[in-house]
Amino acid sequence: MSTLLLTGGAGFIGSNLIRFLLRTTDVRIVNLDALTYAGNLENLSDVEHDPRLTFVKGSITDADLVDRIITTYSVDGIINCAAESHVDRSIASAAPFVDTNVTGTLVLLEAAKKHGLQRFLQMSTDEVYGSLGPVGAFSEDTPIAPNSPYSASKASADLLVRAFVHTHNVPAVITRCSNNYGPYQFPEKFLPVMILNAMEERPLPIYGNGLQVRDWIHVDDHCAAVWLVYTKGRVGEVYNIGAENERPNLHVAREILRELGKTEALLTYVTDRPGHDVRYAINASKIRTELGWRPTRSFDEGLRATVAWYRAHQAWCENIRTGAYQDYYERNYTSGT
Ligand code: NAD
Ligand code: DAU
Repeated sequence: MSTLLLTGGAGFIGSNLIRFLLRTTDVRIVNLDALTYAGNLENLSDVEHDPRLTFVKGSITDADLVDRIITTYSVDGIINCAAESHVDRSIASAAPFVDTNVTGTLVLLEAAKKHGLQRFLQMSTDEVYGSLGPVGAFSEDTPIAPNSPYSASKASADLLVRAFVHTHNVPAVITRCSNNYGPYQFPEKFLPVMILNAMEERPLPIYGNGLQVRDWIHVDDHCAAVWLVYTKGRVGEVYNIGAENERPNLHVAREILRELGKTEALLTYVTDRPGHDVRYAINASKIRTELGWRPTRSFDEGLRATVAWYRAHQAWCENIRTGAYQDYYERNYTSGT
């Protein structure tokens, strides 16, 4: 049985990936997460007692801690999901993005090199390719052209990964996925903002004209693809991940209002995001042909299920609204120690 260091496992994708791996593999997982505002251990409450899962609170920028974890738990490989992930926050303040996304990735790469780890997966993003015009899609050969401080920090990390493969033979792979949706997404991102505001009949803030296009994929399909790349991807390669579900933001917001039976009068046009990327679309033919991956969730069904999940998890939403989620670690992990 192998042991994986999975970083950022208290976030949206990381927590879904942990649940997926516990369900479908026999790996042991050490989840290293700094519990920033985006880290929520309540996301893992249903699996927190699983003997194959260990949680360590700390930052991926802490080289000594990463070193100790790898030695103590005999870690074989790393999946790096930890990141500052929200574009709007990177526009307000870029420094934390460079710290975690660039310096943190460098710390993990140095550790992978030092300990001779068998595998390193960098969870990157399609945003490193920049913005598309009305036609075409990002392939792995599309030049990197990031437009936001967030995507610039992710692209910088990708270049470090590439350099560690070529210079130090670190057996790394990179995934670049499009916009994820599904359960446990922090309500600062588009979909949960739209769903929660619609449920509470508050205005839905649409940036600019709302005609920007995102290419949506259910987080479960992303997790399956990540594990396939981690286990079967070729060292040094980049794999795009996407499910061919392009939608203008306004269209998605309208679908959510329809699903919840709310009026379109809630749609509220607000000042556009500076440097807003107009369109993303992923060409995922490489992972499809080389590794046989296929998405399993249609957007219409996945969106309905996601709306239903938020409706059924009002307490989870409320704990974020009040800030109580930030005490979860103290309340559930540290008592008696
Ligand atoms: P998220 O913001 O929900 O979660 C990020 C997690 O990382 C949080 O638990 C946070 O506490 C943790 N973290 C932040 N800084 C840390 C540090 N210094 N050390 C340890 N942990 C730290 O993000 P997400 O949406 O789940 O994204 C996960 C990864 O996937 C990111 O690398 C992101 O760039 C990438 N990605 C996201 C999407 C998407 O649509 N959400 C799409 C493609 C790629
Ligand atoms: O493409 C992958 C990326 O998708 C990930 O790398 C990022 O971590 C993730 O945050 C996401 O980036 P986006 O900028 O596309 O996601 P966001 O949810 O912030 O916004 C989606 C679209 O919706 C975008 O065009 C901006 C718009 N938007 C967003 C919010 C939060 C609104 O119109 N209103 C809003 O309130």
